[in-house]
Amino acid sequence: MHVLHVVGARPNFMKAAPVIQALTSRQIGRQTLVHTGQHYDANMSDVFFEHLGMRAPDVNLEVGSGSHARQTAEAMKRLEQTVLERAPDIVLVYGDVNSTLAGALVCAKLLVPVGHVEAGLRSFDLTMPEEINRLLSDQIADLLFTPSLDGNENLAREGVAPEKVHFVGNVMIDTLVRLLPEASARWTSGGLGPIRPGDGEAFGVVTLHRPSNVDDQEALGDLIHTLDRIGTDVPLVFPVHPRTRKMIVAGGHEPQSTGLRLTDPLGYLDFLALQSKATLVITDSAGVQEESTYLGVPCLTLRKNTERPVTETVGTNTVVGQDLERLEAEVALILEGKAKSGGIPELWDGRAAERIAEIIQNWGPS
Ligand code: UD1
Repeated sequence: MHVLHVVGARPNFMKAAPVIQALTSRQIGRQTLVHTGQHYDANMSDVFFEHLGMRAPDVNLEVGSGSHARQTAEAMKRLEQTVLERAPDIVLVYGDVNSTLAGALVCAKLLVPVGHVEAGLRSFDLTMPEEINRLLSDQIADLLFTPSLDGNENLAREGVAPEKVHFVGNVMIDTLVRLLPEASARWTSGGLGPIRPGDGEAFGVVTLHRPSNVDDQEALGDLIHTLDRIGTDVPLVFPVHPRTRKMIVAGGHEPQSTGLRLTDPLGYLDFLALQSKATLVITDSAGVQEESTYLGVPCLTLRKNTERPVTETVGTNTVVGQDLERLEAEVALILEGKAKSGGIPELWDGRAAERIAEIIQNWGPS
């Protein structure tokens, strides 16, 4: 069997790595790795391949940045060519980024079977570009791998045939489980350099990149101001996404206190090390909500909703919306030792990719 994987943006890489590995272990046949080039900076892409021990892509489509339509359309044009040339038996797409939808659409039109890893998640918020990518990819996928049972319920409600849907668990957690010892060793050996907080020191980690938080200058200014103030109570390490960096610089929102420490985006191992030792996490990322749940670290999510409800119902996540007073109040509670405790969702056990590989092996032509 020939499996072609489409990845494009930072959160795809840690999801594809364990699936490629599991298929390799099963000697599935041939695998082709296609990078659309949606993320292209070394610290948004290359460092992840290095830290994840992932082989270099066979093809890089160098799509780059642009409006949603341009980016998705370019990825589609170039992917169509690649899929025709490589003639895979099945294409796997990951998560909810523009490259995911581009891959699913191209394959559906070429009648090439497509599997969606991380299917079924819904925020029910159509102002999020990712929600559109999720809905449409799931409608046209042939195999849908869900990380949690809410995903199965959503797909059933949307009329997706149950035989296409497989509850396999969370592939992102597979990577975390594999690499946590290496990340911890990096912490101990001082691999993080000057941004590393002291052993036993309370600190928070911040990540922000959603349009809802960073594209409006006034809202971003208020947010940075609030983080600045929180930073006087507990130091915050803030690896800054490129789109957020541009907006901070354009709006003159650089922090005033030394408690809010901005740094460039971190590689997988460094970010995991930081997150695993943190007292709390403040984020609008999808993956960070899941990772902090697995790690048992309290997470405050600066969004109106989450497509990952198990991180709230089972895990340590609290969705605080865009209410900055609430954010400060929740941070104070955590610092007083009243953090929400949580458990680990079903099948987030480091073996999700193994389940996917088994299903693919039994499903297709050999
Ligand atoms: C994308 C995903 C989002 C995911 C996030 C993780 C979509 C719709 N969104 O958002 O779901 O959570 O990745 O990071 O696919 N840029 C660089 N260097 C890069 C990549 C981007 O400077 O390597 C800048 C570009 O100026 C670009 C902006 O960041 O315009 C946004 O990048 P883009 O890939 O369009 O979306 P993200 O915000 O990263």
